Amino acid sequence: MDKVILAFSGGLDTTVCVKLLEENNNLEVVTVCVDVGQPKEELEKAEKVAKQLNVKKHYTIDAKEEFANDYIAKGIKANAVYEGYPLSTAIARPLIAMKTIEIAEKENAVAIAHGCTGKGNDQFRFEAVIRSMSNFDIIAPIRELNLTRTEEIDYAKKHKIPLSSDKLYSIDENIWGRSIEGHILEDPANEPPEEIYKWTTAPVDANEKVEKVIIEFEKGVPIAINEKKMPLLDLIGVANEIAGKNSVGRIDTIENRMVGLKSREIYEVPGAILLISAHQALEELVLTKDELLFAEFMSTKYADLVYTALWHEPLREDMDQAIDYMQRRVSGKVVMKLFKGSVIPVSRKSKYSLHDIDQISFEDKENDQNEMEGMIKHHGLQASIYQKLNK
Ligand code: ARG
Repeated sequence: MDKVILAFSGGLDTTVCVKLLEENNNLEVVTVCVDVGQPKEELEKAEKVAKQLNVKKHYTIDAKEEFANDYIAKGIKANAVYEGYPLSTAIARPLIAMKTIEIAEKENAVAIAHGCTGKGNDQFRFEAVIRSMSNFDIIAPIRELNLTRTEEIDYAKKHKIPLSSDKLYSIDENIWGRSIEGHILEDPANEPPEEIYKWTTAPVDANEKVEKVIIEFEKGVPIAINEKKMPLLDLIGVANEIAGKNSVGRIDTIENRMVGLKSREIYEVPGAILLISAHQALEELVLTKDELLFAEFMSTKYADLVYTALWHEPLREDMDQAIDYMQRRVSGKVVMKLFKGSVIPVSRKSKYSLHDIDQISFEDKENDQNEMEGMIKHHGLQASIYQKLNK
């Protein structure tokens, strides 16, 4: 029997997909769950559900380190934030797709399947990668059959498919962030209930004392937190914990999806907000005005490419080269002050600092203030000519 590789989470969509692929497409299903830092219980649940579904082979692939070093590190250097959302789900998808392709090649499969619906961004992200990086056919059972959630549940019941999930919300989680949507959150008029948050303490219950965190960067990448050097993967975990207990990184936004829909999205991204804010604070110290302006422009474009499923667009790689070159001076230490949801830089130091303390000082006598006269006189020359003409 021909094989299909299914990117599998054990949730409703992908669980239903297993049976649909077997019954409608007459394929043997191999399930793949890529570990990018979702909770252990979820990985175990995926394994368990795969077993219950009598899937012959199930893979759990640990891709956490690769995710941190080859994806999140780039996201930090680029300050990859889309409409206020530090890209967590979006930046993990290309890696998940790549790992699924690897298994499809190993298993000699004829196709790759995913459980995305026709409403979101993830269908674009999986398929763009599979199309540009392989020749596998793609099957999207839920979208192809235009199934609603209720129809999926009915199908599951009819086929005695075990449904472990009693979750109300649709949640996606990896080491870089947690995104929560659906149920009562669909209506932007409803305030998110406290129960949806897992990584962040509510501001009223957060630390009563200010907490300071020292982040050290080398070439734009965090290498130490509170003076302790550690691999990025571990550092992100520590950052999530410290920022989370100070209520940093709760985002409630109306997002513009690729399909044109506006959607209400909630994110918990404590570590991402802490590390990207610190990174930007350091950039302000070491990059020139023009570099900062251009970095901001690249950042917006970069985030847009990642969000819109264009990780393999050459411009993303071109920008990585330019960003890496710029980041060679983004080394140093930043102290961030956290308190009940706020996060601000209070100290920055770098051997590449362009800030000249002697020249900026009010006590400076060396630079003669009179020298400015000529420069001032001609500043705004065109505006001055225009205003006089106007009179
Ligand atoms: N809106 C975000 C994105 O497109 C996150 C989607 C995550 N999915 C979920 N079921 N919460 O990147």
